[in-house]
Amino acid sequence: MRFEAVPPFADDLAASLAYALALLGKAASDRRSSMHTPSVATLALDGRPRNRIVVLRYFEAQSRSLRFHTDIRSDKFEELGRDERVSMLFYDPAEKIQLRVEGIAERHVADPIADEAWASSQPMSRHCYATMPAPGSVIDAARAFTLPKGRELTDEGRPQFSAIAVTFNRLEWLWLGSDGHRRAVFSWGKANINPEMRWLVP
Ligand SMILES: Cc1cc2nc3c(=O)[nH]c(=O)nc-3n(C[C@H](O)[C@H](O)[C@H](O)COP(=O)(O)O)c2cc1C
Repeated sequence: MRFEAVPPFADDLAASLAYALALLGKAASDRRSSMHTPSVATLALDGRPRNRIVVLRYFEAQSRSLRFHTDIRSDKFEELGRDERVSMLFYDPAEKIQLRVEGIAERHVADPIADEAWASSQPMSRHCYATMPAPGSVIDAARAFTLPKGRELTDEGRPQFSAIAVTFNRLEWLWLGSDGHRRAVFSWGKANINPEMRWLVP
């Protein structure tokens, strides 16, 4: 959505949150959304921060849950086993909105959530999970790895596939408005459905 003047959410915390959640919903379903490919940060096994881009596969506003998919042989999967805290970063240049979410990641491998995610995956996505050797392995030449050929649906990669469900309890909003920027933080305690909402200095 583009606004000629100041948008209705500009100075309204609840409206800013509603807009942020709507953008995340669009990001999960619309592959053309620039928020469709957020960055996910984890802590490496030695404690250093690491991030990478993933595809946002799912978002549900009520439970504040996001999902992406990855290979169980990847570093991020191992890192999340050690420390489940994650930060995800989204930016939409047309909207001039940055969203930073922080929460807890749950790894799903051999369970109904992973099964359902696998069932809805396209053949090309599935192929990546059957790559040999494991993603991140050092190889002698750029193409010294194998992937299944063809376009048919195969289950070869299923044992390596995981769905990572992130539930966030903090969302930081930054809108670069032409009349001045707006920054806000929304945080959810354990029991509360309604977040605490605060403006921040941008
Ligand atoms: C546009 C784009 C989308 C990507 N989507 C995913 C994804 O959904 N899941 C994933 O594991 N890696 C994805 N990657 C690759 C990761 O960014 C990363 O290089 C890889 O997963 C290895 O990360 P790790 O070693 O930190 O685990 C994507 C990369 C790009 C550029």
